[in-house]
Amino acid sequence: MRVGYGWLVMGALAGCTVFGTGASAAEVKYLDEFDLSAMSCGMGAKAQARRSILGKPLRLGDKTYERGVGTHSESLMFFRADGRVAAFDAVVGVDRETQEYPASWRTGKNWGSCSFRVYADGRKVCDSGVIKEKDAPKPLHADLEGAQWILLECSDGGFWAGYLCGHGDWADARFTFNDGAKLEPVKDDPLLDQWGVLTPPEAQEPRINGAAVWGVRPGHPILYRIPVTGRSPVTLTVEGLKAEKLKGVKFDPQTRLLSGSVAEAGDYELVLKAENAKGKAERKFTLKVGEKIALTPPMGWNSWNIYGGSVTDAKVREIARGMHESGLADHGWAYVNIDDWWMKNSGAGEKGNADHAGPVRDAEGRFIPQAKFPDMKALADYVHGFGLKIGIYSSPGDKTCGGCEGSLGHEAIDAKTWADWGIDYLKHDWCGYGKVFAKETKGRKPTVDDYAKPYRLMSQCLRAQNRDIVHAFCQYGMGDVQSWGEAAGAQVWRSWGDLKDNWTCVLNATESYAEAYKYTRPGFWCDPDMMVVGYLDTDFGMHESFLSNNEQYTHMSLWCLLNAPLLLGCDLNHMSDFTKGLLMNDDVLALNQDTLGRQAERVHHDEETDIWWRPLEDGSSAAGIVNRYPFKRTVTFKFSEAGLSGECWVQDLWRQKSLGLHRDGIAVDVPGHATFMIRIEPDCIRCQERRARK
Ligand code: GAL
Repeated sequence: MRVGYGWLVMGALAGCTVFGTGASAAEVKYLDEFDLSAMSCGMGAKAQARRSILGKPLRLGDKTYERGVGTHSESLMFFRADGRVAAFDAVVGVDRETQEYPASWRTGKNWGSCSFRVYADGRKVCDSGVIKEKDAPKPLHADLEGAQWILLECSDGGFWAGYLCGHGDWADARFTFNDGAKLEPVKDDPLLDQWGVLTPPEAQEPRINGAAVWGVRPGHPILYRIPVTGRSPVTLTVEGLKAEKLKGVKFDPQTRLLSGSVAEAGDYELVLKAENAKGKAERKFTLKVGEKIALTPPMGWNSWNIYGGSVTDAKVREIARGMHESGLADHGWAYVNIDDWWMKNSGAGEKGNADHAGPVRDAEGRFIPQAKFPDMKALADYVHGFGLKIGIYSSPGDKTCGGCEGSLGHEAIDAKTWADWGIDYLKHDWCGYGKVFAKETKGRKPTVDDYAKPYRLMSQCLRAQNRDIVHAFCQYGMGDVQSWGEAAGAQVWRSWGDLKDNWTCVLNATESYAEAYKYTRPGFWCDPDMMVVGYLDTDFGMHESFLSNNEQYTHMSLWCLLNAPLLLGCDLNHMSDFTKGLLMNDDVLALNQDTLGRQAERVHHDEETDIWWRPLEDGSSAAGIVNRYPFKRTVTFKFSEAGLSGECWVQDLWRQKSLGLHRDGIAVDVPGHATFMIRIEPDCIRCQERRARK
C-alpha cells in the first residue's frame, strides 16, 4: 500500500511517535502483509495476520486493532533490508484473550506476559520491557535507517506466565520505507542458525564414562554399574579389589556391576580397565566409604515431565529398559525416579477412580500404593536388574502437590518401607506441608528452623535405614535453602519453581545459581529443576521440547557447568538423533561429573552474554559462553575474566575438537540462544606437550 508520508501515517499511528526520514515520499507496509510463515511462533502455533494467536480480533486494553499480527512467545521474524527502510512502528502488548481463560488456568502466576524487541545489524533498537496482560499496551518506534537486517522478537516476559499465555500482539505494526527500499522476510538466514547434532559419533575404542568416584556409607549396599562405551565386546576389569577390607565387594564383568559392601570407612583406590578389538582404556576410580553420598550430581530420569499423574509401574519399567537399551546408561545415566501419584489419592478414589479406592495405608501404617503399582519391591528389583537405581516421591505434608498420601506423621515407617522396597532416592516435596507451616508460624516471621524441621526429621529417618537414600529437598528455594540444606541433611535442594520448556524459564532458573557456588560441593547440590529436553509432555500433550536446538544446548551446557542434578523428563524410548547427541556427549557430561565438584561461577554478565566458568579436577577449566541474543554473534571470552593468563589450549567440548592455542582470550561464533562450551588448559599443564605433538 502506498501512501504519502505525513498526516496519513501519523493518523493511523495513534499514540505512536514517528520521526521523519528526510525522504519526501514514503511507502508503508503492514507486518500482516508479509509472508508470516517466516515468523517462528512458540507452543507449536502459527502467527496470525490481523488476528490474535487464537484467531480472534486483535485486542489490547480497550482497543480492537484492524491491522497487526498475533503470535505466541517465543517468536522471531527476520528480514534482510537494503539500508533504505526508515522505521518500524507498532503498539505491543498481551492480547486480552488471555484474561478470558477458564478460572482453573488462572492460578498463581499464571497470567500472560511478553516483551517485544527490535534489533538491527546486531544492535537492539528498541525494547518494550516486560508487559503483563493487565498492563497498558506500549507504542514502539524503531529507527531503522541504514539497516541491512532487522529482527522482530516477541519473547516471554517471565516464569510460567509467558510460557502459557505469551499471546503477543504486534498491533498496527508497519514498516515505513524510503522510496524503492527492499525488505524481505528470511527463514533460513545464517544469522538464525540452529545447531544440529554436534556430538561426534561414538568412538569404536573403549571409553570409561561417568564419575571417577562413588560414595557409599559403611556396611550399606553398593550398586554401581560402570558406564563404558566402545565397540562390543568390551572386556572390563577392576583392579584393587583383592584388598582385605574390600573382600565384601564383588565385580561382575558381564553386568559391569560393582556390588556388596565395605564395613570400614576409607578411600579405596581402584583401577578400571576396558579393552576391545580397537584399543584399551584405563581410569582411576575411588570408592569412598563414609558419610557422604552423591559425590557427583545424580544423573537419571523423573516421571513428572512426561507422565504427570498417569505414571504406572509398566511405564517406569519401559523407561528403565529404555535407559539401558538406548545406551544412556553407558554414559552414566542411572536414576529412574517416580514422581507424584504412585501412592493413593483418596480424593480420586472417592470420585470413583478404582486405582485409588480403598485404604491408603495398611494396619502397620505402611503405604498401600495405587493399583497401577502392584508391587513396589518387584519394580525396584527390575530397575536394579539393569544396574540402575530407583527413586520415589513424597511430601512432608499430609498430602502431596497432587493430593496423594503424604508422609506427615509417618516419617519413620515410610523411610523403612522405602528401604525395604530398595529405594535409592527421595524427592521430598513441600506442598502439603504449607498448612502445617502456616499454623506453626502464625503471627511471626518464619525462622530457618521452621523451614528445615520437616526435612531434618525425614533425613534422620532415612539415615537410620540400612541402605543409602539420596534426600532431595523440593521446596523451591524458600527460606534461602542453599544456606541450610546441607545441615538439614540434603544431598540435593531445589532452588527454584517448576522448569518449563521456554527460553526465559531456562535463563531465569540459572539466575537462582548466581550465589549457589558458595554452598555446593561434592555431596551437596543445588537443583534448578528437572530437564525439559527431548520428547516430553510439559502440559500440552507429547511434543518435542518447545526449546529450540540452540536453547537445548544452552540448557544442557548450563546444567553440566552448574553441577545440577541431571534428571530427564523425556521419553527414553523415542529420542531423536539430536536428543541422543545432546545427552550422550561424554566430554560435556564429564564436567557435571567432575570429582572436584566446583560449580561454575558467572564471570561475565550483560544483556547480550553470560560466561560461566569453573575449574576442574585435572587443573584445566571449562567455560560456557551463552549468547542471550536471538541471532548469531561473535563473542570474545577474555581469559583474564576467569583469572587465567597467557597461552591456553582450548577444546570445543560439544564438537570434541581442538581449537588450538590462544593467547589472552578466544573469539567464537555463537548462534542465537546457544552456548559454546570450551575446556581450557593453561600453559602450565599440557601446552608444551601439545605443541610438540602438533
Ligand atoms: C510440584 C513439583 C513438581 C512435581 C509436582 C508433583 O510441586 O515442583 O516437580 O513434583 O509437584 O505434584
